[in-house]
Amino acid sequence: MEAIILLGAPGAGKGTTAEGVVQATEYIHLATGDMLRDALKNGSALGKLAEGFMKRGELVPDDVIVKIVEARLDGGSKDVRYMFDGFPRTLEQAKLLEDSFKRRGGMVTHVFFLAAPRELLISRLTGRRICRKCGRNFHVINIPPKVEGVCDLCQGQLYQRADDQEATILNRLEVFSKQTESLVAYYEKAGKLVRIDASMHRDVITNGILEMLKK
Ligand code: AP5
Repeated sequence: MEAIILLGAPGAGKGTTAEGVVQATEYIHLATGDMLRDALKNGSALGKLAEGFMKRGELVPDDVIVKIVEARLDGGSKDVRYMFDGFPRTLEQAKLLEDSFKRRGGMVTHVFFLAAPRELLISRLTGRRICRKCGRNFHVINIPPKVEGVCDLCQGQLYQRADDQEATILNRLEVFSKQTESLVAYYEKAGKLVRIDASMHRDVITNGILEMLKK
């Protein structure tokens, strides 16, 4: 079992990059934000627990997150490669992930840190639109759909995430900047951190990562 991690602030392009990497490789995309939004949609106990934290732009407690990731790893085969998106987010989560992989005889090979200026992150998040049906990401200016409000791929309806309102965005960015330093230092010390300029075109970012994974 191996894993790579996409680390980056809200709006840095973790989900967008993940889409590109998944199309070209066999990595399994595991995004804790998506897992929580699914739980919310299904009205499960996990969704109810996470809802308030997500609405406020705060982090869901570490023990809850680690439990859902562990459950996913337990349910999967041992020979897979995971691409974590939005996980780990705290030093505690990173250490628990390390222990979990050690127990399974696996390892994290690369941590791609997508970094972009704050103004760019805000404009990406306020302009983001997502397809209700297939989950494809768009942006009203950078990656506009051919028909406004309609997904190019499946003709599903596009919507704006509840936490993409400006006040919540600012809180999410604040929470991220508080957690980042220790996480970056942790993976830098482990020799796994690769810094990426997330303001580049999405294809350049994806291709750069694919090149590094080939080595
Ligand atoms: P989560 O869903 O993980 O959200 P996030 O980290 O805030 O990140 P986003 O999904 O908003 O951004 P992204 O980096 O994926 O950007 P994207 O590719 O979409 O988490 C949501 C909440 O769940 C958290 O606040 C927390 O409450 C909870 N949670 C989740 N995981 C947790 C954890 N591990 N621990 C505790 N709590 C957790 O791109 C954004 C926009 O920009 C899109 O419109 C896209 O089209 C555009 N774009 C992207 N890249 C480019 C590019 N290169 N050029 C031009 N446009 C681009």
